[in-house]
Amino acid sequence: MMMKMWLPLLFAMWLSAVSGNINNSASMNNNNNNSNSKNNNNNNNNSNQKRPNIIFVFADDYGFNDIGYHGSQISTPTLDKLASDGVKLENYYVQPLCSPTRSQLMSGRYQIHTGLQHRIFRSEQPNGLPLDSPTMADKMKEAGYATHMVGKWHLGFYKDEYLPWNRGFDSYFGKGTSLENPLFLYLAYQSVHEPLQVPEEYERQYTHIQDSKRRSYADNGGARRGGANNFPLRGGKSTLWEGGIHGVAFVTGGRVPAKGTVNRELIHVTDWFPTLVGLAQGSLNGTKPLDGVDQWDTISNGTPSKRTVLLHNIDPMSSNHGVPLYNDTFDTSVRAAIRVGHMKLITGAPGNGSWVPPPGQTQAVPSEPNTSPDKNVWLFNITADPTEHHDLSDQMPGTVRTLLGYLQRFDQTAVPILFPALDKNSNPALHGGVWGPWQ
Ligand SMILES: *[C@@H]1O[C@H](CO)[C@@H](O)[C@H](O)[C@H]1NC(C)=O
Ligand SMILES: *[C@@H]1O[C@H](CO)[C@@H](O)[C@H](O)[C@H]1NC(C)=O
Ligand SMILES: *[C@@H]1O[C@H](CO)[C@@H](O)[C@H](O)[C@H]1NC(C)=O
Ligand SMILES: *[C@@H]1O[C@H](CO)[C@@H](O)[C@H](O)[C@H]1NC(C)=O
Ligand SMILES: *[C@@H]1O[C@H](CO)[C@@H](O)[C@H](O)[C@H]1NC(C)=O
Ligand SMILES: *[C@@H]1O[C@H](CO)[C@@H](O)[C@H](O)[C@H]1NC(C)=O
Ligand SMILES: *[C@@H]1O[C@H](CO)[C@@H](O)[C@H](O)[C@H]1NC(C)=O
Repeated sequence: MMMKMWLPLLFAMWLSAVSGNINNSASMNNNNNNSNSKNNNNNNNNSNQKRPNIIFVFADDYGFNDIGYHGSQISTPTLDKLASDGVKLENYYVQPLCSPTRSQLMSGRYQIHTGLQHRIFRSEQPNGLPLDSPTMADKMKEAGYATHMVGKWHLGFYKDEYLPWNRGFDSYFGKGTSLENPLFLYLAYQSVHEPLQVPEEYERQYTHIQDSKRRSYADNGGARRGGANNFPLRGGKSTLWEGGIHGVAFVTGGRVPAKGTVNRELIHVTDWFPTLVGLAQGSLNGTKPLDGVDQWDTISNGTPSKRTVLLHNIDPMSSNHGVPLYNDTFDTSVRAAIRVGHMKLITGAPGNGSWVPPPGQTQAVPSEPNTSPDKNVWLFNITADPTEHHDLSDQMPGTVRTLLGYLQRFDQTAVPILFPALDKNSNPALHGGVWGPWQ
C-alpha cells in the first residue's frame, strides 16, 4: 500500500510556494499528565506542558494570487479563517521549485550548502538530501516529539537511508500514532501541483472562471501553465523573480499570541528548522551550520526579523548568460539571486519575467521592458517595488557591487553540486512495477 504512493509522490516536480500552519492547542498537550507531574516534583520542568503540538502544512505550487485574502478570484474561506485567527506572513520566501524548498525546510540550510543548487531530484537519479546533517524531524524526535509525515517527500529514495522513516519520522503515511508525546506532523500536499484533479461538485462552484485549468486548480499557485497565478508579482515557478519565490504562509493555533496580525518581516523556509526545534525545546547540536534563524519572536511578538540577508540561490550549473559585468567579483553570467535588506540582486538568466494577470482579467498589464537579450544584472528595492518594475542596476552601481560581493562570499562557501546522471536501474519495471529504493 505504501509503495503505491510512490508514483504520484515522486513524479510531482515543481513548487513555488508554501503554507506553514501551527496548531498548538493546549488541550492536546495535556496528554502527558504523569510525566509532567513527575517533572514538576523533580525540577519544575514544565516543558511538556509548554511544548506545542505542531502541524506543518505544505502545499506545492501555491500561487501568490491564489489565496482568498490576497484578493483572489479563488475562494479559500477555511484558509482565510485560519489565517485571520493567526499571523499572516507577508514577507515569506521559498525556493522556485519543489525539492529545493523541501531540502531547505528539512535541513535548515541553503541549497549551496547541501549540493542541491541545481534543479530538482529526478526519480531516476541516485540522489537525495545528504545524510551528513540531521533533519528537522530528527531533531524534533530527539526533543521527544512523535514525528509523522503524510504526503510528498521528494528528498530522495534511491536507498533506504533516504526515506522519511530513516530521516527522523516515526511514521510515513498511515500507521497509528501515540499520544504520549507532543506531535510534529508534516503534512505535505501533492496538490495544487499538477496533475489538476477536482471532484465535480467543487469545480461547479467556479463556473465563472473561464480558463478550464484555473477552474480545476481553484479547488485544489505557482505554476502558471498549471493554472496558478502570481499576479501582481513578476514571473512564476522555476524563476528567480518574486512570483517564483515569494510564498503564501501563515501561522495559527492556540499558542499564537499575535492573533489577526500581518507580519511583514523577512522570513525564509530555512527558518522553520530552528524555529520549530526551538518551540519543541530541542537542541540544534550536531547539525551542520544552519542558514535558518529562529523567528519565533518575530512571528509571535512582531519583533524585527533576525534575518537581513537571504540567499535565493547560486546555480553555476545553469547555462551562463551574457558576459560578466566585472572581473574582480561575482560573475554576473551565473544564475543567482540575493536579498540584502530592501534590495534584491538577480544575475544570469532568471527565467521568464513577464507579469501575467489571472485568465479573463481585463486590466492593463505592463509588458516586459525591452532590454538587451544578454542583460544579466537586475537590482530592485523589493520593499518599495515588490512587483519588480523598476530596475535600479544602472542607477545604483555601488549597490550592485556590494550585493555582488555578498554573492561572491556565499559562493566561496558552496559545496560541489550533486546532480548525478539518470540511472537505468531505477526503472520500476525492474522492481515489481513500483518506484522504490534500487540501491
Ligand atoms: C487549534 O486548537 C484549538 C484549541 O483546541 C481549536 O479551538 C482550534 O480550532 C484549532 N485550530 C485548528 C486549525 O485546528
Ligand atoms: C491531568 O491531570 C488533571 C489533574 O489531576 C486532571 O484533571 C486531568 O483530567 C488530566 N488530564 C489528562 C489528559 O489526563
Ligand atoms: C525538560 O524535560 C524534557 C523531557 O524530559 C527535556 O527534554 C528537557 O531538556 C528539559 N528541559 C529543561 C529546561 O530542563
Ligand atoms: C544532542 O544533545 C542531546 C541531548 O543532550 C543528545 O541526546 C544527542 O545525542 C545530541 N546529538 C548529537 C548529534 O550530538
Ligand atoms: C576583464 O578582463 C579581460 C581580460 O583581461 C579584459 O579584456 C576586460 O576588459 C575586463 N573587463 C572588465 C569589465 O574589466
Ligand atoms: C513568457 O511568458 C509569457 C506569459 O506566459 C509568454 O507570453 C511569453 O511568450 C513568455 N516568453 C518567453 C520568452 O518564453
Ligand atoms: C527602499 O524602499 C524603502 C521603502 O520605500 C525605503 O525606505 C528605502 O530607503 C529604500 N532603500 C533604498 C536603498 O533605496
